Formats: sequence, structure tokens, C-alpha cells
Amino acid sequence: MTAESIKKSFIDIFQTEPVLVKSPGRINIIGEHTDYNGGLVMPAAIDKGVYVAISKRNDQEIHLYAESFQSTCISSVAAIKKTELSWANYILGVANEFVQRGHQLSGFNLYIYGNVPLGAGLSSSAAVECATALALQYINGLSVSKMELAWLSQKAEHTFAGVNCGIMDQFAAVFGKKDHAMMLDCRSMEYEYIPLKLEGYKFVLLNTNVKHSLSDSAYNERREQCNKGVSWIKSHHPEVHYLRDADLAMLEEHVKPKDENVYLKCKYVVNEIERVKKAAQALKNGDLKELGALMFQTHEGLSKDYEVSCKELDFLVNQVKGLAYVLGARMMGGGFGGCTINVVKEQEIDALVDKLSSLYLNEFGLKLDAYIVETGIGAEVI
Ligand code: GLA
Repeated sequence: MTAESIKKSFIDIFQTEPVLVKSPGRINIIGEHTDYNGGLVMPAAIDKGVYVAISKRNDQEIHLYAESFQSTCISSVAAIKKTELSWANYILGVANEFVQRGHQLSGFNLYIYGNVPLGAGLSSSAAVECATALALQYINGLSVSKMELAWLSQKAEHTFAGVNCGIMDQFAAVFGKKDHAMMLDCRSMEYEYIPLKLEGYKFVLLNTNVKHSLSDSAYNERREQCNKGVSWIKSHHPEVHYLRDADLAMLEEHVKPKDENVYLKCKYVVNEIERVKKAAQALKNGDLKELGALMFQTHEGLSKDYEVSCKELDFLVNQVKGLAYVLGARMMGGGFGGCTINVVKEQEIDALVDKLSSLYLNEFGLKLDAYIVETGIGAEVI
């Protein structure tokens, strides 16, 4: 749908002119499961995203319509509650966060349409949250910083969607810049834009089209395992607040003897944070080979130590290993399904996708979808 057709649909439903907001999905080049450990991440916003059309109401009611589900939800600013409709919870969760923070919201009509594939690990949920946050800020004339929009969107995911996510996805949705990755330090919240000069290569996403049901519970469990590791170290090193503050020697001494499994989880995170630093340097040096090698290492760590991969993701990464025209590949996002991200020589993309599609179909009886990534900008009022 175009911006015009979204507006038109809104007017058909709500008989009034809307304001239109767009917020992007994201890729993550490297730095997985590091954000909630105070570590480094390197996401980029993509050109696909979520559109929200919104208008103020004269009462306290909230009227929502989701184009993709042809579904309606009605609520009220005075009594926002979680619903059975998961798509609506992302929106209501954000409205609730504004209210919790003492902001005055009017009732509103909101129409939502997205072209980020759902459940593919491209953060369609953060895109919905951040589009809603910006839309509500705009129509209510609230003074809320961009960073605050990201924080309150993240909080909505914790409270209304039940996933204790880090800040990466919402940050990327708000701060994205075309043709740039962002290296964000999730401890200090300082960030740097790094130009994406891919010189004949492209990021290609391969969507497994699976999302295993474990994903949310395992995500929260990983967070707890990391916190456990930190608490064991902290009793000897009070300056350690996150795994970011720890090193491998500390893990060997204080975590490994207590729990081998927690140790492996923590070790992955500490190593991954170091990889992000190296990857940033590699990108700046135009050394895509090095970047790709680091991505393969990340996959290995996510699969063997952190244990958030799955057979479909492992299969896709294994298939491209050793191909001269694929410099790197790894699973992307929270895990248990979604996409792999690959650095592929432009001329080889079509042939590679054809070949992998038939291998994937053969192995799992599933369709493989491929997207060539175009970067985009952060959330904006159109
Ligand atoms: C999900 C979360 C992010 C981040 C990634 C893993 O996308 O929303 O905060 O933790 O998983 O890197």
C-alpha cells in the first residue's frame, strides 16, 4: 500500500483526515543478545516498516484497526488493558506507557499497516511500537525526546508483549539513518553512525519462515542466565553491573565452577561484545572479509554456546560456508527462527537464492524467502 492508499483507507473507516507516521524494521549486522548485557550492537534501519495513520478523538476512546489482520480493537485511555489481540497489545502498551509517565493523551483512531515480514526477526513489533509512540507524541503535542520514545516503546514490549527485550530494536527504529549502521553502546547509550560501504556486496536476508514457540520464553531465560552470571561475579567484583563489565578470567573463576551452562551463555556474550568492536573497525577499513568472518563466528557462538539457533538457521548458514562469494552469514535477532543475514556478492545473489531455495525445500518442505536489504531512515511523520 502507498501512503495515499493508507490515508484513503483510514478516511473510509474513521471519516476524518489522519496524520501519517512511518517507522522502520531493522537488521542487525553483529552484536546479538548483547544489548541487555550493557554491550555493543550494530543494527541498521531498513526501508520496510510500519505505517500508522492516526487522528485525535473528542472522547477518551481508542479505536484501532489493523489492515493485515482486518481486525478491530476498542479501548479507552482511562482504562488501558492487555487484550487477546497480540497486534493491538503493542499499540495499547505504548499508549499505556505515556499514561504511566504522566502524559495527557486524548482518545484516538489508529490504523496500522506494515510491510515488514512478521516473525522474521526484523523487529516488526518495535516498528509498531515506535510508530505508535511518535504518532501519539505528535498529535498530543508532547515534549518527549527521541531516546525517551525508544525507552517507552521498549517498556511496552516488556509489559504488554511479555518479552524482556533490550533497547536495540526500538533504538534502531527511532535513530536509523540511510546507508549507515549504528554502533550503539547499550551501557552509556552513546552511538556512532558507520557508513555502509559494501562495494559490490549486499546484505541478503534468508527467511526460514519458521518461528519456534520457544522463542519468547527462551529469550527471557537467557536474560536471567546472564544476570545470574553477573550476580556471581559481582560478589567478588562490585564494579561489575553487566556482562559488559566482565572479562573471560572473571567468568572462569566465578561462573564456571558454579554452572557450566550459565558459563557458556556468559562467555558467548563477552566474546560477542569484542567481535562488535572488531567488526566496526573492519567496516571502517572496508574489510568485508573480516566482517564476514566475525559474523560466522557469531553464528557458531549463538548456535553452540548461547543455544538460540535452530536446525533451519544452522542449515542455511552451513550451506553458504566456504562459498567464495558469501563473505559471512549468521542467524539474526532473538533466534529460534526468522532470518539469516548474509554478505553476498551482488552478481551471485540470484543464483544463490535459487540454489538454496530448492535445497531448503528438499530438507524441510518449507519455502525460503529472500530479501536484499535496502537501508532506510528512522521513524518520521510523513
Ligand atoms: C530481540 C530483542 C533485542 C535483542 C535481540 C537479540 O530482537 O528485541 O533487544 O536482544 O533480540 O540481539
